[in-house]
Amino acid sequence: MGRSIRIFKSVDDLSQFFAQILVKSIDEIHEDRYFSLALSGGSTPRSIFQYLAVNFRETIAWKRVLVFWSDERCVPPDSTESNFRMTREVLLDHIPIPSDNIIRIKGEADPMDEALHYTETVRQFLPSFNGIPRFDLMMLGVGIDGHTASIFPDNLSLFESEKLFEVVEHPQTRRQRITATGNLINNSGRIVFLATGDTKSKIVKMILDHKAGSEKFPASLVYPVNGELLWLLDDKAARSIIKNP
Ligand code: 6PG
Repeated sequence: MGRSIRIFKSVDDLSQFFAQILVKSIDEIHEDRYFSLALSGGSTPRSIFQYLAVNFRETIAWKRVLVFWSDERCVPPDSTESNFRMTREVLLDHIPIPSDNIIRIKGEADPMDEALHYTETVRQFLPSFNGIPRFDLMMLGVGIDGHTASIFPDNLSLFESEKLFEVVEHPQTRRQRITATGNLINNSGRIVFLATGDTKSKIVKMILDHKAGSEKFPASLVYPVNGELLWLLDDKAARSIIKNP
């Protein structure tokens, strides 16, 4: 299905398009099956989640959606650093999704134990493709250093890992995180990168133009083995692309 890039004048327009992809993706799967959605953390998704909560509370069949995370910080669920807390505050507390459908990474647990536990949980809930669990839709962000999920440039070996989730350290804060690995990410049916704001324009151009050296950026190694890759950008993040089409 390949890769496509869509550019939007505003984050609301981008959020609307993302929501429509979500509706379409859910409609595509058989009604007797749950839809598996892996969410990204960070600040970019925040405004998109808020948009979904306000505008798609009733439009999306949330009861059919199982919510997972691509990565989580090893902190309690009420920590201001928690990806789960952010998602709960701006989205999950505002939509009719059963609590059993929310399958968070337990940041408060022992990281190694939880990486194994979450791996088994994902295996239990998801169908497999080529022996690897397959998310219907994986949402990802990209850092200005080219990281995605919590796969940082100093840890590209996570794209070769046989494990589905691994424990990593943030290169600057040294804070431990649990992250999906490259083989799990690339096994998704649909991967949607979200990048907004001027700070992302340089890394977005490096990655999307396959500039020399871009292979050192984890986000450039994300490519579904049998699925669709979408990059959703606002004008600011696409600034370098638009200037030199
Ligand atoms: C996290 C995210 C991470 C994020 C990028 C971009 O846990 O922080 O999963 O991969 O997507 O760091 O973050 P921003 O959206 O805040 O720029």
